[in-house]
Amino acid sequence: MDVDSEVRILAHIADFMGTSMAFEDVLTTALRFTAGLMGADGSSILLIERPSGNLSFFIVLGEKAEQLKNIALERGEGIAGFVAETGLPMVVSDVNRESRFSARVDQITGFKTRAIACVPLKVRGELTGVIEIVSKKPGSFGDKELDMLGAIAGPVAIMLENARLIREVKRLHDELAEAARLKAEVLATMTHEMRTPINIVIGNLDLVLRGFLGELSERQRKCLETALRNSGEALSLVSSLLDLSRFEAGQYIVHTEEFRLEEIWNDLEAFIRVGLSGKPVELFWTIEGELPTLSSDRMKMKEILSNVIFNAVKYTDRGEVRVTAAPYNGGAGISVEVRDTGVGIPKDSLPYIFDPFRQVEGSATRSLGGVGLGLAIAKRLMELLHGTIEVASELGQGTTFRMKFPAHYHP
Ligand SMILES: Nc1ncnc2c1ncn2[C@@H]1O[C@H](COP(=O)(O)OP(=O)(O)OP(=O)(O)O)[C@@H](O)[C@H]1O
Ligand SMILES: [Mg+2]
Repeated sequence: MDVDSEVRILAHIADFMGTSMAFEDVLTTALRFTAGLMGADGSSILLIERPSGNLSFFIVLGEKAEQLKNIALERGEGIAGFVAETGLPMVVSDVNRESRFSARVDQITGFKTRAIACVPLKVRGELTGVIEIVSKKPGSFGDKELDMLGAIAGPVAIMLENARLIREVKRLHDELAEAARLKAEVLATMTHEMRTPINIVIGNLDLVLRGFLGELSERQRKCLETALRNSGEALSLVSSLLDLSRFEAGQYIVHTEEFRLEEIWNDLEAFIRVGLSGKPVELFWTIEGELPTLSSDRMKMKEILSNVIFNAVKYTDRGEVRVTAAPYNGGAGISVEVRDTGVGIPKDSLPYIFDPFRQVEGSATRSLGGVGLGLAIAKRLMELLHGTIEVASELGQGTTFRMKFPAHYHP
């Protein structure tokens, strides 16, 4: 064996490492290739387990490979144990003349080891395992074999460390995702539970206000009306939170039914007009072409449209709010455009208005109420129904939201 073959091995391993093979396969191939060149009867990569310091077989090649995978070496046991403890490479040309050799593994497998070469695996100065080759013939290995093994130890150790880091990151990611999901689940349950008492408060206030429990003085009425209005706001906030947390908890289910977009508009129009009352803003609803009948989630579609249209109404003081619906792709989908002549959204705010709890800073949003959940919910619902929602805006000129969604929802 000479420097040339070392270079050859390293070049070979570099080739393997560059492929998309699973890293265990790369290590196995590299080990087989190297051990083959050196005429070894068996070869293995052993890893140090923390905190015990035991060595376990990670990759094993040779006749007893299957048996070895279930065996662990104790801290410091045998040649591999010595190398893993000290970090010093070691070659034994005949185990019968080496007191550090442990025959325990051979006794289990029935293999007759005579020669061993073993090198440590190190990453950033830390010992992580060893590479070991064995032969049934005494005198099979010398310093050259040790050098060869030493040459592949570097890249092998780095590959192992990378794989460990990837596993670690993945584990952390899974843990975080699970924690987030549990949090959302708690929130979903809590908000759901909160709706019941709020509804009871609203029901009772309504009862008193309608005079079922006797006449009210003007002051009493005013007071209860304020309470009713605020309970209504609390209910809508809690409902929005519930919607959002259901998404995060993965609890959203699409219920499809057949309906027409016009029906949704009819449901919404009266409320929208109330929102416009007293403002010099005109409302238009136009259909361009023949709209297909939808087979999708009616409640969700209504919520999306009402969130977007109510925004247009809320953020427009004069001019118009124009809703235009049209078929696209020969009726496979419907596009809805909501265009207003309102305050507009600054360019640098556009990227985040669909994020939960984000409102345009310093605008009139605070005085207009709301918490910044409407668009976050609209966007998530839209994506759930396989649609898209986009925004374009000119500050002081107005804003246009464009939605597109398939007429037939397919899971
Ligand atoms: N048509 C629009 N014109 C101008 N700004 C808008 C328009 N629609 C949304 N925005 C801006 O985007 C922000 C986010 O909208 P979103 O509907 O999510 O929240 P909100 O209306 O403030 O509160 P909520 O809908 O939860 O009651 C708003 O606070 C507002 O600054
Ligand atoms: Mg809103």
